[in-house]
Amino acid sequence: MTQTTQELLSWGITQLTPVFGEGARTDARSLLAHAMGIERGMLSVKLHDPVCGDVTKVFQRAIVQRVKHQPVSQIIGAREFWGRRFKITPDVLDPRPDTETLIEEVLKQPAPKTILDLGTGSGCILLTLLAEFKTATGTAVDVSGKALAVATENAAALGLSDRVTFKQSDWFENISGQFDLIVSNPPYITAKAMDEIAPDVRDWEPRMALTPEGDGLDAYRIIAKNAAQYLAPKGQLFLEIGWDQAASVLEIFHQQGFQNGRCIQDLAQKDRILHFHPPKTA
Ligand SMILES: C[S@@+](CC[C@H](N)C(=O)[O-])C[C@H]1O[C@@H](n2cnc3c(N)ncnc32)[C@H](O)[C@@H]1O
Repeated sequence: MTQTTQELLSWGITQLTPVFGEGARTDARSLLAHAMGIERGMLSVKLHDPVCGDVTKVFQRAIVQRVKHQPVSQIIGAREFWGRRFKITPDVLDPRPDTETLIEEVLKQPAPKTILDLGTGSGCILLTLLAEFKTATGTAVDVSGKALAVATENAAALGLSDRVTFKQSDWFENISGQFDLIVSNPPYITAKAMDEIAPDVRDWEPRMALTPEGDGLDAYRIIAKNAAQYLAPKGQLFLEIGWDQAASVLEIFHQQGFQNGRCIQDLAQKDRILHFHPPKTA
Protein backbone atom coordinates (compact mmCIF):
# COMPACT_ATOMS: atom_id res chain seq x y z
CA MET A 1 0.00 0.00 0.00
CA THR A 2 1.31 3.46 -0.89
CA GLN A 3 2.30 5.64 2.06
CA THR A 4 1.51 9.32 2.45
CA THR A 5 4.22 11.88 3.13
CA GLN A 6 2.85 12.23 6.68
CA GLU A 7 3.15 8.48 7.34
CA LEU A 8 6.72 8.38 6.04
CA LEU A 9 7.64 11.44 8.11
CA SER A 10 6.16 9.87 11.25
CA TRP A 11 8.18 6.71 10.63
CA GLY A 12 11.36 8.80 10.36
CA ILE A 13 10.61 10.73 13.56
CA THR A 14 10.01 7.46 15.39
CA GLN A 15 13.43 6.16 14.27
CA LEU A 16 15.28 9.34 15.28
CA THR A 17 13.54 10.16 18.58
CA PRO A 18 15.38 7.62 20.78
CA VAL A 19 18.72 9.08 19.58
CA PHE A 20 17.97 12.79 19.19
CA GLY A 21 14.91 13.50 21.35
CA GLU A 22 13.30 16.80 20.39
CA GLY A 23 15.71 17.36 17.50
CA ALA A 24 14.24 14.32 15.72
CA ARG A 25 11.32 16.19 14.18
CA THR A 26 13.43 18.96 12.61
CA ASP A 27 16.00 16.49 11.28
CA ALA A 28 13.35 14.16 9.83
CA ARG A 29 11.63 17.07 8.08
CA SER A 30 14.92 18.29 6.59
CA LEU A 31 15.83 14.81 5.37
CA LEU A 32 12.39 14.12 3.90
CA ALA A 33 12.29 17.46 2.10
CA HIS A 34 15.73 16.63 0.69
CA ALA A 35 14.54 13.18 -0.44
CA MET A 36 11.54 14.81 -2.15
CA GLY A 37 13.69 17.56 -3.72
CA ILE A 38 11.63 20.36 -2.17
CA GLU A 39 12.20 23.18 0.35
CA ARG A 40 11.48 22.21 3.95
CA GLY A 41 8.71 24.79 4.18
CA MET A 42 6.84 23.02 1.34
CA LEU A 43 6.47 19.73 3.26
CA SER A 44 3.34 20.89 5.08
CA VAL A 45 1.37 21.23 1.86
CA LYS A 46 2.41 17.76 0.66
CA LEU A 47 1.61 15.81 3.83
CA HIS A 48 -1.48 14.08 2.39
CA ASP A 49 0.13 13.25 -0.97
CA PRO A 50 1.29 9.69 -1.68
CA VAL A 51 5.09 9.27 -1.83
CA CYS A 52 6.85 7.36 -4.60
CA GLY A 53 9.19 4.45 -3.97
CA ASP A 54 12.36 6.38 -4.84
CA VAL A 55 11.64 9.03 -2.22
CA THR A 56 11.01 6.34 0.37
CA LYS A 57 14.33 4.64 -0.43
CA VAL A 58 16.34 7.89 -0.28
CA PHE A 59 14.64 8.91 2.98
CA GLN A 60 15.13 5.50 4.61
CA ARG A 61 18.84 5.59 3.71
CA ALA A 62 19.14 9.12 5.10
CA ILE A 63 17.48 8.09 8.37
CA VAL A 64 19.90 5.16 8.73
CA GLN A 65 22.82 7.59 8.23
CA ARG A 66 21.39 10.06 10.77
CA VAL A 67 20.88 7.33 13.37
CA LYS A 68 24.64 6.77 13.05
CA HIS A 69 25.03 10.48 13.99
CA GLN A 70 26.11 11.70 10.54
CA PRO A 71 25.27 15.43 10.48
CA VAL A 72 22.20 16.41 8.44
CA SER A 73 24.32 18.80 6.34
CA GLN A 74 26.60 15.95 5.27
CA ILE A 75 23.65 13.69 4.38
CA ILE A 76 22.00 16.45 2.39
CA GLY A 77 25.39 17.60 1.11
CA ALA A 78 24.73 21.28 1.77
CA ARG A 79 24.32 23.97 4.41
CA GLU A 80 22.91 27.46 4.16
CA PHE A 81 25.26 30.18 5.43
CA TRP A 82 24.44 33.93 5.29
CA GLY A 83 21.64 33.11 2.86
CA ARG A 84 23.74 31.12 0.38
CA ARG A 85 24.02 27.38 -0.17
CA PHE A 86 27.40 25.74 0.39
CA LYS A 87 28.35 22.20 -0.56
CA ILE A 88 29.35 20.26 2.57
CA THR A 89 31.23 16.94 2.73
CA PRO A 90 32.95 15.04 5.56
CA ASP A 91 36.16 16.85 4.51
CA VAL A 92 35.00 20.27 5.75
CA LEU A 93 33.58 21.78 8.92
CA ASP A 94 29.82 22.21 8.81
CA PRO A 95 29.55 26.05 8.97
CA ARG A 96 28.08 27.17 12.30
CA PRO A 97 25.58 30.01 12.80
CA ASP A 98 28.08 31.54 15.32
CA THR A 99 30.42 32.24 12.43
CA GLU A 100 27.80 34.52 10.87
CA THR A 101 28.68 36.97 13.69
CA LEU A 102 32.08 37.40 12.03
CA ILE A 103 30.40 38.16 8.70
CA GLU A 104 28.04 40.65 10.35
CA GLU A 105 30.96 42.54 11.96
CA VAL A 106 33.15 42.57 8.86
CA LEU A 107 30.27 43.93 6.77
CA LYS A 108 30.17 47.00 9.05
CA GLN A 109 33.70 47.89 7.86
CA PRO A 110 34.70 49.76 4.70
CA ALA A 111 34.98 47.41 1.70
CA PRO A 112 38.42 45.74 1.55
CA LYS A 113 40.20 45.21 -1.77
CA THR A 114 42.06 42.09 -0.67
CA ILE A 115 41.03 39.38 1.81
CA LEU A 116 42.98 36.45 3.27
CA ASP A 117 40.98 33.61 4.85
CA LEU A 118 43.08 31.27 6.99
CA GLY A 119 41.52 27.79 7.30
CA THR A 120 38.85 28.29 4.68
CA GLY A 121 37.16 24.86 4.92
CA SER A 122 34.01 25.04 2.78
CA GLY A 123 34.98 28.61 1.91
CA CYS A 124 31.87 29.92 3.69
CA ILE A 125 33.59 33.00 5.21
CA LEU A 126 35.66 34.16 2.25
CA LEU A 127 33.07 33.39 -0.41
CA THR A 128 30.34 35.16 1.55
CA LEU A 129 32.56 38.23 1.91
CA LEU A 130 33.45 38.18 -1.80
CA ALA A 131 29.77 37.89 -2.69
CA GLU A 132 29.02 40.92 -0.49
CA PHE A 133 32.13 43.02 -1.33
CA LYS A 134 31.70 42.84 -5.08
CA THR A 135 35.08 44.25 -6.11
CA ALA A 136 37.27 42.43 -3.58
CA THR A 137 39.60 39.55 -4.37
CA GLY A 138 40.52 36.83 -1.91
CA THR A 139 43.01 34.12 -1.01
CA ALA A 140 41.61 30.97 0.55
CA VAL A 141 44.13 29.00 2.61
CA ASP A 142 43.79 25.53 3.99
CA VAL A 143 46.26 22.80 4.88
CA SER A 144 43.70 20.25 3.66
CA GLY A 145 43.68 19.70 -0.10
CA LYS A 146 40.30 17.96 0.21
CA ALA A 147 38.80 21.02 1.93
CA LEU A 148 40.21 23.26 -0.79
CA ALA A 149 38.55 21.06 -3.43
CA VAL A 150 35.17 21.65 -1.76
CA ALA A 151 35.81 25.40 -1.43
CA THR A 152 36.77 25.50 -5.12
CA GLU A 153 33.44 23.90 -6.06
CA ASN A 154 31.58 26.35 -3.84
CA ALA A 155 33.35 29.30 -5.47
CA ALA A 156 32.32 28.02 -8.91
CA ALA A 157 28.71 27.45 -7.84
CA LEU A 158 28.52 31.02 -6.53
CA GLY A 159 30.16 32.48 -9.65
CA LEU A 160 33.16 33.76 -7.67
CA SER A 161 36.03 31.65 -9.08
CA ASP A 162 37.65 34.55 -10.91
CA ARG A 163 38.12 36.49 -7.65
CA VAL A 164 39.61 33.70 -5.49
CA THR A 165 43.06 32.13 -5.30
CA PHE A 166 43.26 28.83 -3.46
CA LYS A 167 46.47 27.98 -1.61
CA GLN A 168 47.34 24.79 0.19
CA SER A 169 49.41 26.09 3.06
CA ASP A 170 50.22 25.50 6.72
CA TRP A 171 48.80 28.87 7.85
CA PHE A 172 51.06 31.59 6.36
CA GLU A 173 53.76 29.23 5.06
CA ASN A 174 53.02 29.63 1.31
CA ILE A 175 51.48 33.09 1.50
CA SER A 176 53.03 36.35 0.34
CA GLY A 177 51.84 39.94 0.09
CA GLN A 178 49.69 42.12 2.34
CA PHE A 179 45.93 42.11 2.79
CA ASP A 180 43.33 44.73 3.77
CA LEU A 181 41.43 42.09 5.70
CA ILE A 182 42.52 38.83 7.31
CA VAL A 183 39.79 36.52 8.63
CA SER A 184 40.01 33.17 10.33
CA ASN A 185 37.93 30.66 12.16
CA PRO A 186 40.79 28.36 13.15
CA PRO A 187 40.45 25.06 15.02
CA TYR A 188 40.17 25.99 18.71
CA ILE A 189 38.68 23.12 20.74
CA THR A 190 41.00 21.76 23.43
CA ALA A 191 42.17 18.14 23.22
CA LYS A 192 40.36 17.47 26.52
CA ALA A 193 37.05 18.93 25.29
CA MET A 194 37.29 16.73 22.18
CA ASP A 195 36.87 13.67 24.45
CA GLU A 196 33.49 14.96 25.61
CA ILE A 197 32.14 16.42 22.37
CA ALA A 198 28.94 15.12 20.69
CA PRO A 199 29.45 12.09 18.41
CA ASP A 200 27.91 14.04 15.47
CA VAL A 201 30.96 16.30 15.64
CA ARG A 202 33.66 13.97 16.95
CA ASP A 203 33.00 11.05 14.61
CA TRP A 204 32.02 12.92 11.43
CA GLU A 205 33.83 16.24 11.13
CA PRO A 206 37.57 16.44 10.33
CA ARG A 207 39.55 16.49 13.60
CA MET A 208 42.01 19.00 12.19
CA ALA A 209 39.13 21.42 11.55
CA LEU A 210 38.08 21.18 15.19
CA THR A 211 41.20 21.11 17.32
CA PRO A 212 44.87 22.06 17.16
CA GLU A 213 45.17 19.65 20.14
CA GLY A 214 46.61 20.74 23.52
CA ASP A 215 45.07 23.88 25.00
CA GLY A 216 43.31 24.81 21.74
CA LEU A 217 45.32 28.02 21.28
CA ASP A 218 48.17 27.05 18.94
CA ALA A 219 46.56 28.40 15.76
CA TYR A 220 46.09 31.78 17.49
CA ARG A 221 49.77 31.75 18.54
CA ILE A 222 50.84 31.25 14.92
CA ILE A 223 48.43 33.87 13.58
CA ALA A 224 49.46 36.39 16.27
CA LYS A 225 53.15 35.87 15.48
CA ASN A 226 52.76 36.38 11.73
CA ALA A 227 49.68 38.50 11.06
CA ALA A 228 51.35 41.93 11.32
CA GLN A 229 53.60 41.10 8.38
CA TYR A 230 50.61 40.21 6.19
CA LEU A 231 48.29 43.06 7.17
CA ALA A 232 48.24 46.24 5.07
CA PRO A 233 49.03 49.35 7.19
CA LYS A 234 45.32 50.07 7.68
CA GLY A 235 44.33 46.43 7.55
CA GLN A 236 42.02 44.62 9.95
CA LEU A 237 41.99 41.15 11.45
CA PHE A 238 38.86 39.28 12.56
CA LEU A 239 39.08 35.95 14.37
CA GLU A 240 36.48 33.57 15.67
CA ILE A 241 37.22 32.24 19.17
CA GLY A 242 35.70 29.78 21.62
CA TRP A 243 33.31 31.46 24.10
CA ASP A 244 35.80 31.11 26.97
CA GLN A 245 38.99 32.03 25.10
CA ALA A 246 38.81 35.84 24.79
CA ALA A 247 41.21 36.67 27.65
CA SER A 248 43.79 34.07 26.58
CA VAL A 249 43.72 35.03 22.90
CA LEU A 250 43.82 38.77 23.65
CA GLU A 251 46.90 38.12 25.80
CA ILE A 252 48.58 36.12 23.02
CA PHE A 253 48.01 39.00 20.58
CA HIS A 254 49.01 41.61 23.16
CA GLN A 255 52.37 39.88 23.53
CA GLN A 256 52.90 40.25 19.77
CA GLY A 257 52.19 44.00 19.88
CA PHE A 258 48.46 44.02 19.10
CA GLN A 259 47.35 46.48 21.80
CA ASN A 260 43.88 47.17 20.53
CA GLY A 261 41.82 44.00 20.52
CA ARG A 262 38.05 44.29 20.68
CA CYS A 263 35.74 41.41 21.59
CA ILE A 264 32.32 40.97 19.98
CA GLN A 265 29.60 38.66 21.31
CA ASP A 266 27.36 36.34 19.32
CA LEU A 267 23.56 36.15 19.42
CA ALA A 268 23.74 34.03 22.59
CA GLN A 269 25.75 36.86 24.26
CA LYS A 270 28.93 34.73 24.27
CA ASP A 271 32.37 36.08 23.39
CA ARG A 272 32.85 34.98 19.78
CA ILE A 273 34.89 37.35 17.61
CA LEU A 274 38.10 39.33 18.18
CA HIS A 275 38.91 42.38 16.04
CA PHE A 276 42.44 43.77 15.73
CA HIS A 277 44.21 46.56 13.88
CA PRO A 278 47.91 46.14 13.05
CA PRO A 279 50.35 46.98 15.86
CA LYS A 280 51.76 50.51 15.67
CA THR A 281 55.30 50.42 14.34
CA ALA A 282 57.84 52.54 16.22
C1 LIG B 1 37.12 25.56 12.28
S1 LIG B 1 37.47 25.10 10.61
C2 LIG B 1 36.83 26.55 9.77
C3 LIG B 1 36.31 26.28 8.39
C4 LIG B 1 35.53 27.48 7.79
N1 LIG B 1 36.38 28.65 7.69
C5 LIG B 1 34.31 27.81 8.65
O1 LIG B 1 34.33 28.82 9.35
O2 LIG B 1 33.34 27.04 8.62
C6 LIG B 1 39.22 25.32 10.56
C7 LIG B 1 39.89 25.09 9.21
O3 LIG B 1 41.31 25.27 9.40
C8 LIG B 1 42.00 24.31 8.62
N2 LIG B 1 43.33 24.11 9.20
C9 LIG B 1 43.69 23.33 10.25
N3 LIG B 1 45.02 23.41 10.46
C10 LIG B 1 45.51 24.24 9.51
C11 LIG B 1 46.82 24.71 9.20
N4 LIG B 1 47.88 24.30 9.90
N5 LIG B 1 46.98 25.57 8.17
C12 LIG B 1 45.89 25.97 7.45
N6 LIG B 1 44.62 25.55 7.69
C13 LIG B 1 44.43 24.69 8.71
C14 LIG B 1 41.13 23.06 8.68
O4 LIG B 1 41.42 22.19 7.63
C15 LIG B 1 39.73 23.69 8.63
O5 LIG B 1 39.27 23.78 7.30
